[in-house]
Amino acid sequence: MIPAIDFVAPTSHASLPPRSALRFARRPAAASGGEKVLTQDGRELLLRAIDPNDVAAMQRCFTRLSPEEIRRRFLHAMSELPAPMAQQLCRIDPSRETAFVLMDESFHPAEMRGVGRIYVDDTTDTAEFSVLVEHAWSRIGLGALLMQRLVDDCRRRGLYELWGYVLQENRPMLQLCKELGFTQRAIPDEPGTMLITLKL
Ligand SMILES: CC(C)(COP(=O)(O)OP(=O)(O)OC[C@H]1O[C@@H](n2cnc3c(N)ncnc32)[C@H](O)[C@@H]1OP(=O)(O)O)[C@@H](O)C(=O)NCCC(=O)NCCS
Repeated sequence: MIPAIDFVAPTSHASLPPRSALRFARRPAAASGGEKVLTQDGRELLLRAIDPNDVAAMQRCFTRLSPEEIRRRFLHAMSELPAPMAQQLCRIDPSRETAFVLMDESFHPAEMRGVGRIYVDDTTDTAEFSVLVEHAWSRIGLGALLMQRLVDDCRRRGLYELWGYVLQENRPMLQLCKELGFTQRAIPDEPGTMLITLKL
């Protein structure tokens, strides 16, 4: 039996709603060092740190995205994810970046179903986030789970703020951020784009 794991927010910080804890059972994945995530509809994913060997899985994931999902994630249209860019996204500098992936190991090779990442700006003690969940895996709490992990990581790093740009038409992401306690405001110089922030 998989024990449900309670989400415990650090007491010295504003707590995030424990919403994803209600939707998943999670347990350590012994071999990989990641964490198994069992969704309420019985599907299993591995949540782990991104790895340089994830390039091909990331490129396959990109081909399953709609033009709208690509624009919402990268804030502009892209017809393909070039190998050098995929390599750059998978080979992170841990001192300035964190990236978690959700891997579907029911396929061989495993398929990437979600990615959440931050880039740290040392000069401001803040980090910029981005997150993506493949459509077939959406609306089951995975976006919230990835965001919660990024917030936890930012707090572990002692950062002051987590922020990101989100298109104004991206209702799902704006709603998700609202539920997680982020504030949002329009950017005068960038019509159609919102600045989303969470004080840590
Ligand atoms: C935005 C995105 C990450 C959400 O991922 P997700 O796994 O579906 O999100 P969750 O299941 O955790 O949803 C959490 C909450 O967000 C809101 N939400 C998510 N999708 C929504 C939608 N399509 N419509 C309205 N609200 C939505 C809801 O409040 C939801 O809670 P609920 O299901 O209890 O109503 C995903 O749709 C995505 O990858 N979009 C493309 C890339 C992108 O927009 N990235 C953000 C910019 S970096």
